[in-house]
Amino acid sequence: MSQWFEQRHAPLPGTYLCLKTEIDNNRVKEFRFGGESPFAFRMFIYNDNGTFKAYRNSCPHYDVPLNHNPDDLFTSDAGYFQCMTHFAKFEKDSGLCISGPCEGQALESIPIELEGERLIIGNKN
Ligand code: FES
Repeated sequence: MSQWFEQRHAPLPGTYLCLKTEIDNNRVKEFRFGGESPFAFRMFIYNDNGTFKAYRNSCPHYDVPLNHNPDDLFTSDAGYFQCMTHFAKFEKDSGLCISGPCEGQALESIPIELEGERLIIGNKN
């Protein structure tokens, strides 16, 4: 399977995403590169109590976005990320799927860096 940076419209290292203050604690912010193209690159950043983690918004089961509605990425108790297609659950701090059809697989992590208050795409792993 190809890696995030090999996807069409994947952002380059150094691409500005947002200010860290734009993402509240325990919330996410989505990003889309490639406009309305069906091949747009989608990702989100999660603020884990001041630690920022980014994942490609693509379910390991069918390579579709987890959510159908904006920012609707959590289980009802907000304890996990959830794919709204077949309801796989993913740990928020690791992206690991702990139940559902892709159990044992994980959301693809995307490197990000803080540059002062700015969150940017980091260098490829
Ligand atoms: S597409 Fe996500 S669980 Fe099936």
